[in-house]
Amino acid sequence: RADDGYRLWLKYDLLPAANRTAYAPRLNRIVASPGVPEAAVQELVAGIRGLTGKQPVVGGKEGMGAITLKINPSLVANDEGYSITSGSSGIILSARSSQGLIYASFAFLRALQTLQPLDGLSISSSPKVKYRLLNHWDNNNGTIERGYAGSSLWKWFDLPDVVDERYRDYARASASVGINGSVVNNVNASARFLTPEYLDKLAALADVFRPYGIKVYLSVFFAAPKTLGKQQTSDPLNPEVRKWWAAKTDEIYARIPDFGGFLVKANSEGEPGPQDYGRTHADGANMLAEALGNHPGIVMWRSFVYKANSNGDRAKEGFEEFKPLDGKFHPKVLVQVKNGPIDFQPREPFHPLFGAMPRTPLMMEFQLTQEYLGFATHLAYLAPMFKECLDTPVAGAGTEVGRVVDGSLHGYRMTGMAGVANTGSDRNWTGHPFGQANWYAFGRLAWDWTLAADQVATEWIHMTLTHQPEAVSSIREMMMGSREAVVNYMTPLGLHHLMGHNLHYGPEPWLAKSARPDWTAVYYHRADSLGIGFNRSASGSNALGLYSPEIQAKWGENCPPEYLLWFHHVAWSQKMANGRTLWDELCYRYDAGVKSVARMQQQWNGVKKAVDPEVFTHVAGRLSIQLREARWWRDACVQYFQTFSRMPLPVGVEKPG
Ligand code: GCU
Repeated sequence: RADDGYRLWLKYDLLPAANRTAYAPRLNRIVASPGVPEAAVQELVAGIRGLTGKQPVVGGKEGMGAITLKINPSLVANDEGYSITSGSSGIILSARSSQGLIYASFAFLRALQTLQPLDGLSISSSPKVKYRLLNHWDNNNGTIERGYAGSSLWKWFDLPDVVDERYRDYARASASVGINGSVVNNVNASARFLTPEYLDKLAALADVFRPYGIKVYLSVFFAAPKTLGKQQTSDPLNPEVRKWWAAKTDEIYARIPDFGGFLVKANSEGEPGPQDYGRTHADGANMLAEALGNHPGIVMWRSFVYKANSNGDRAKEGFEEFKPLDGKFHPKVLVQVKNGPIDFQPREPFHPLFGAMPRTPLMMEFQLTQEYLGFATHLAYLAPMFKECLDTPVAGAGTEVGRVVDGSLHGYRMTGMAGVANTGSDRNWTGHPFGQANWYAFGRLAWDWTLAADQVATEWIHMTLTHQPEAVSSIREMMMGSREAVVNYMTPLGLHHLMGHNLHYGPEPWLAKSARPDWTAVYYHRADSLGIGFNRSASGSNALGLYSPEIQAKWGENCPPEYLLWFHHVAWSQKMANGRTLWDELCYRYDAGVKSVARMQQQWNGVKKAVDPEVFTHVAGRLSIQLREARWWRDACVQYFQTFSRMPLPVGVEKPG
């Protein structure tokens, strides 16, 4: 049967014969003691049956040929961690909690799917971050803000009576990579989600997700007390408003006892918030945290803000509003910070808030949906982008952003990572078959940000596409270079925000007029007859000054090319370290981006025999669009910037067609 991508990385197709033969004698039975979750056993049965062609029995005794699942409260692991061993007593999956056994089961299946030898197998793993969430920007009318794979997964009009089978498969896939929460609605939230009608629908989703350890969360509309509750105000310090939220919270918990909590976008892009009443973000967040009372939920308060009529540097605004609030948040609050200070561009430096709020837990927000990286049309494997951010020290050695996020740097008790989801109602979930890899990689890195991007890619390729060794390595190479290709053909050398107005697709570097100056492209690239780039050094906006002295030194005078035009306005004729002028380098990078896509096409053509024909054709089609659009970006940007530089195209750069 042609593979339509529905099964994601949980395909469980027959393994190569040699592996099956080696595995078979060890996988005869599954032994589950009381307390072992049914979902784990079911997954193991289905997985082993599919992968080996032989159905294991459930029952019998621990020993050779058995996979035994055990809850072991004294295991050295955290609450959700697990260990997997294989020896004379067979294969043993242990965890301190039933949730840990779900993760152990998926990890064991992953070991089989990636052809690991079972002799002497010894894996132990605990998540480094506590809240590992997908953020769905899904609306109650079925649309998705910045969603490119069909409409919403959630069929609000059918729920709670009709429960689509996809919800369970969504939970399985998410849990298999360690995701433990799902914010089901858009951060530009409708108050309707807080009505009893919608809470019943949410409860039905929670029931499906629960066996997989996935909690549901809601994005809330801050003015709901007024619009929904008929209060005079939504002022967070008003006692009636506080009572309203407390009662609303109780109403939610009556239906969903393990409800995860709230995500809030406030006083940003027209959304209401505490500042409407002269209060601070901390006042708003703390009010909701108090409304949660003794319930287990948390508040995730977003730092993505920029003022309505700002004439400063947008890259500084989140920092300026939030840094003074450090230490002022309730213990149930996490501040959710986008990876970079502007908005999910193909490349941004890490957000200066990371490292700057030692008394407030900050959680990471990445975007899986490719709002600025070619939607679901362009192949861009994002793990290298996530890693680039997580692996960068905020100050000296040992201060990686990942260590801010996992709490180890400042001793945060609460830690989290969120990914803005790229899922939709398309049969293959993400539109582009390779979009699945970003969902996969996000979960794996939220669990353990120290994993290597290429290792995660290798796992995903084995589980999803092929075991053929040469094909695995070509596909991995193609994936690993893909994000840099996008950076090159869209926004090389630290350029950003050159995309088409509103839609955020295609180039529009000439955009000079919009509802606000910081929604134009010229605001960001600042090209003129002398040079190009946004001067964010001390002689400019000094956004660079928001970073630690170590970072200021690194990205100051000798700024690496990746961030050059993010922080500096540079003369066209300025010599780069490689001897080229800035203008030539810019042209070469745009052109290199296009050439990388052509190379990706060759790599993909080379694996034709090793992958499913339907997936092959699908991806080949998208790559040909990507090549055309990479040229579109290069030609538009180079020709436009040439009107300022007035310099010729360097030798070897393809002339605009
Ligand atoms: C971007 C995006 C919006 C989104 C916003 C946010 O600006 O274009 O659609 O609402 O980010 O993250 O809140």
